[in-house]
Amino acid sequence: MAKGPNPLILLALSSASFLVFAVIVRKREQTAPASLRFQNPTPPPAVFDHTKVTVLFVLGGPGAGKGTQCSHLVEDFGFCHLSAGDLLRAEQHREGSKFGELIQTCIKEGTIVPMEVTVKLLENAMAAALKEGRSGDGWADGRGRFLIDGFPRKMDQAIKFDEEVCQATMVLFFSTTEQVMLDRLLERGKTSGREDDNAESIKKRFVTYKETTMPVIQHYEAVGKVAEIDSSPSVEEVHQKAKAIVEKILSK
Ligand code: C5P
Ligand code: MG
Repeated sequence: MAKGPNPLILLALSSASFLVFAVIVRKREQTAPASLRFQNPTPPPAVFDHTKVTVLFVLGGPGAGKGTQCSHLVEDFGFCHLSAGDLLRAEQHREGSKFGELIQTCIKEGTIVPMEVTVKLLENAMAAALKEGRSGDGWADGRGRFLIDGFPRKMDQAIKFDEEVCQATMVLFFSTTEQVMLDRLLERGKTSGREDDNAESIKKRFVTYKETTMPVIQHYEAVGKVAEIDSSPSVEEVHQKAKAIVEKILSK
């Protein structure tokens, strides 16, 4: 009777070839481009489709005139105007909110509220406006147009919102000098009742703007998404410039 192959030798051979195989796979994994090494499943789509829902972020230092200009643009184009600061102040005073104290401290210190809070407030407000529906240009068949004012103030807010809520179309950047902003804020502080319209808080808000928000503007500038408007002149002059820019954006 012919002798079959020695099972011990077979076992040794198969273990050796498995080892060689494992080493090759490991080597390939290490030399593969980073993008192929860990292939994440496709990320979930954003909540709102940016081809139907137009989002314009409105940025600029504190007191640059963002809110004032937004109210004019609402009249011109029927935007829904959402101010991140106003939404945070409303949440701060909402009975039963677990974020009231945190928001109050951040606002007084001029620091940025953790992004999850602000992004969720904006998402909810957008959903409510779209559900309620509006008449006028840009609001038929699930469409909508939003001015999101004072947001994103920090890179993490920008990335989370663009990826998970709705990709922004453009940033309107109202720029002016620190002296103009200071004068406007102190003037507003006489009647605004805001806890952060005082010299001490304003100083801190300027620091946050320079260190944390300017990089966001630079990020969008790098991808050609910033329209800068000098907001030093009169409200009406700035409004006319902003109106012309928005007209162009919406006609694309
Ligand atoms: O925009 P506004 O000046 O009303 O914002 C007031 C304050 O709200 C900011 O100084 C900051 O503390 C907080 N805020 C934030 N994130 C935003 C907008 C406002 O943390 N995107
Ligand atoms: Mg404002």
